[in-house]
This record gives sequence, C-alpha cells and structure tokens, in this order.
Amino acid sequence: MQHAHAENPNCGLELRGVNKQFALRDGSLVTALSNIDLQLAQTEIGVLLGPSGCGKSTLLRIVAGLESCDSGTAELQNEVIKGPGPERGMVFQSYSSFPWLNVRDNVAFGLKQRGDSMSLREGVVDYFLDAVKLSAFANAYPHQLSGGMQQRVAIARTLASNPYLLLMDEPFGALDPETRWQMQSLLLEIVQRENTTVLMVSHDIEEALYLADVIFFMGTRPGRILEVIRPNLKRDSTNRDAILSDPHYRALELEIRDRMRQQSLDLL
Ligand SMILES: Nc1ncnc2c1ncn2[C@@H]1O[C@H](COP(=O)(O)OP(=O)(O)OP(=O)(O)O)[C@@H](O)[C@H]1O
Ligand SMILES: [Mg+2]
Repeated sequence: MQHAHAENPNCGLELRGVNKQFALRDGSLVTALSNIDLQLAQTEIGVLLGPSGCGKSTLLRIVAGLESCDSGTAELQNEVIKGPGPERGMVFQSYSSFPWLNVRDNVAFGLKQRGDSMSLREGVVDYFLDAVKLSAFANAYPHQLSGGMQQRVAIARTLASNPYLLLMDEPFGALDPETRWQMQSLLLEIVQRENTTVLMVSHDIEEALYLADVIFFMGTRPGRILEVIRPNLKRDSTNRDAILSDPHYRALELEIRDRMRQQSLDLL
C-alpha cells in the first residue's frame, strides 16, 4: 500500500558527543545531555528509558531538529541534522493534533503536504483511522475527543506520512492497557512492513522490552546514557504475550527494574 523505504544499510541515526545545557533564570546551567553517543541502524527500534529529567525529550527534539546541541553532531543517513524535515515524523509527549482540523484531515495532513493524490490519500487515511479505531470519529475535532483518542490521532497522523525515522515521546502513556497493547502491536507491524527506523521514549519496562531492538538506559544529573541493552527477545506483532514465555524476559525485566530503582535512590 505504501512505498517501503529503499534498503540502504548502515545509514541510520548517529549521535556523537552531543552536549546540551539549558540556562535557568537564576543564571545557573542544567546539563540536559552530557556526551551522548548513540547509534541506531536503519529499521531498528531504539527505546530511551530513564527517570524523569534525564533528557529523553531533549534528545528526541535534537534529532527532530527542533533543538540544537551545544557541541557534538547528530546525523541521519550520514547527513548532519540542521532542522526539521519530512523524513522525520514526531509524536510529542503531549497531544499534538491540529485543533482546527477534524480527525480525518489531521491524519491526511502529511500526505497532503507531500502532494499525494486524493484517491491515494483516502485509502491510506482510512487504513490508519481503522487501525487506531477512530473511523467513527473521522469528522470529529480534537477537542471533542478524550486524551487517549487525541493521542491515537497523533500516532495515526505520523504513521500515515510513513517517515524514514519515527520519533515518539511516550506515545502510549495516556492509553488504557488494552489499547496500548494494540497500538504497540500496530507499531511493530507497520515498522516491520515499511522498514521504518524508530526512536521512542518509554517509562514502561515491559513496553521497552516488547518493542526495542536496543534500549538506551539513561541516567540524570547530568543526563547521559548509562548502558546500551539489546534484549534479543522473540517479538511477535500478532501475539504480544509471546515474549513473556521467553526465558530471558523475566531476568531482563528484573535487571532493568533494579537499575531504575538504583537511579531513583541515587537522586535522594
Ligand atoms: N527549554 C528548557 N529550558 C530550560 N531547561 C530545560 C528546557 N527543556 C528541558 N530542560 C531541562 O533539561 C532537563 C531534561 O529535560 P527533558 O524534558 O529532556 O527530560 P525528560 O527525560 O524528557 O523527562 P520526563 O520523563 O519528565 O519527560 C531537565 O532538567 C529540564 O528541566
Ligand atoms: Mg520528556
């Protein structure tokens, strides 16, 4: 239905020595990101996992081109990221639909901008409205929807434009468990089909283990990557519970939970 991204190995995302500080009102500096090295190959799903304030959103915004870094480089497909671009789609931490467009037009937005024909657009939009279970609300406006429904509009809009790199900041946090599972499976199915590369933020260890090829475990003060974990679990977009029977799953979950607990103790 959509064009799969051309195979072009070794051309994913690469951050080298990225630093970012913010100045607070009293003149003091917060180091949001310290010496970040991150590599994500094409078609991989990377999950940023870590405590509040460790710089996850800042990192995503730098990759989206919405924020610049103080030093270091961020490259996508060997090109330095200098600003936003249509090959990168972002789902923000807070709901980010266009309030003046109804649900259908929100989902169609990226396709229209790209110049897709009306007939091509309609098919794609219908597919994604159905996938996020909002077909019945196609003509509603975002303010008429619940928070979780608005989030699904943002997810559908971003997936519909089929970006090369999908950036998602806690996209499923506002959803009930059942819907969250469905959205996670949908994501896996789509990125596997379309060869999309994904960098997403999560607070949820189970979600991270289900979705990630690679987990970047981050720490705070200063925000940094403490460890890179490759779970290597069997993932199945049609059976989310399959990973639970993987003998490595429980051990990894406990290990990461332990590290997160340690992180929060360190902050006391
Ligand atoms: N625009 C800004 N101005 C000043 N400080 C900022 C700004 N944006 C982020 N920060 C600071 O940078 C640090 C990292 O923030 P960031 O939003 O990236 O964290 P996060 O890991 O996404 O946290 P959360 O899980 O709570 O969303 C925090 O200390 C925050 O206060
Ligand atoms: Mg954040």
